[in-house]
Amino acid sequence: MDKIIVNGGRKLNGEITVQGAKNSVLPILVATLLVDGVSVIHNCPMLSDVDATIKILQYLGCTVNRENHSITVDSTNVFRDDVPDNLMREMRSSIVFLGGILGRMGRAKLSTPGGCEIGLRPIDLHLSAMEQFGATVTDEDGFLVCSAGENGLQGTRITLSFPSVGATENIILAATCAMGTTIISNAAREPEISDLADFLNRCGAKIRGAGDSTVVIEGVKKLTPAEHTVIPDRIVASTYLIATAMTGGEILINSIIPSHIAPIIQPLRESGCNIVVNKKQVILESPKILKRIRMIRTMPHPGFPTDVQAQIMALTSVADGTSVIVENIFESRFKHIGELLRFGAKIHVEGRMAVVEGVNHLNGANVRATDLRGGSAMILAGLQARGTTEITEIHHIDRGYETPEKTLSELGADIKRVNSNEKQGNA
Ligand code: EPZ
Repeated sequence: MDKIIVNGGRKLNGEITVQGAKNSVLPILVATLLVDGVSVIHNCPMLSDVDATIKILQYLGCTVNRENHSITVDSTNVFRDDVPDNLMREMRSSIVFLGGILGRMGRAKLSTPGGCEIGLRPIDLHLSAMEQFGATVTDEDGFLVCSAGENGLQGTRITLSFPSVGATENIILAATCAMGTTIISNAAREPEISDLADFLNRCGAKIRGAGDSTVVIEGVKKLTPAEHTVIPDRIVASTYLIATAMTGGEILINSIIPSHIAPIIQPLRESGCNIVVNKKQVILESPKILKRIRMIRTMPHPGFPTDVQAQIMALTSVADGTSVIVENIFESRFKHIGELLRFGAKIHVEGRMAVVEGVNHLNGANVRATDLRGGSAMILAGLQARGTTEITEIHHIDRGYETPEKTLSELGADIKRVNSNEKQGNA
């Protein structure tokens, strides 16, 4: 098993272009199932979750080719409507295949995706939405079988009790070629929803209001192939901004979309960072000493993203003063705290609230990545800490960050990936 070794205390300085958004490319690749022909998706990050998605598309009968950051999907000969358990389990978010397969084949058979490190990840909202399209949902020895009615999926009005990102995506995928019009109320507003709608509309879909709480989808008979470039990854951009702030450096990030990172700008300014955001770039200059951030509450977009909670907690653990972080989205997304305590962080947890008392500096430690974003927080803490940090279970990090050690080395970090049975020279 590979691990990452960091020698902390080096300032990050420089300029990067951030990868394409993992949480956008995954549903967009699923959406190619609805297109009868060859779709071309650009700016696809090199991630294990993308590899897992490609494997499922190929199992279903798609021909998929990857050339660096461009992926071509020919969905002409899709002939399967099921996803085997081993492929479902490779990726937590494989539930988003439900709407794509059901929309294309009229039937979808998936194993219930298990919970993961950050929560039980229920899919009740997804399933009740499919039933509102007139589909039946049955359980066949551990598999979910979702079948459209004899007249196919019928457009309908769906109100989500929670603005679930995945459920909103599944509804859009199922509604795109359904009979009639679908209206989603309390839809998720994350930018990745808009990116999915942009791709589908480019293929001839009729989706209005994506990115707002009410989305209207007029079903169409057929989608024609199109090319699409995935939006930049706002969570990865936020991670590198926080890494820079924690090491006292300066960074310029190209190819961001300002509104996508808006929720984290104010908290970073409160911590003392000087930030300039223009049309396509964000520039961050760190303060000498980070100040505490009074209160962070994770909320659906455009609130503070839950996917940046672990990273901002690493920052507040070395800020001057006490910060409070409340995790409102997932019921167990504090697993990284145990690992941050190994660095010498002072964090007290009461339910969904973490009280972080900043310390002057962290000390290098042997830690593990508890999950994707918790893992990225370990890297950030290691960058700031005095001494050496070893991070294991980094396969979690590889799900969402394209070669983080390469990007950070280019910014001046002393970081490397080693195969755990390799002799460890100096990192
Ligand atoms: C997406 O997950 C993202 N993943 C997550 O990013 C992100 O944290 C999350 O949205 C929230 O922004 C992808 O896009 C692949 P939800 P998703 O459905 O769709 C509850 C990362 O680090 N819920 O919006 O699974 C659920 O339990 C990952 O990149 C139900 O109760 O998130 C959670 O508490 C982690 N019933 C809340 O809603 C349902 O049927 C938000 O979940 C569905 C969800």
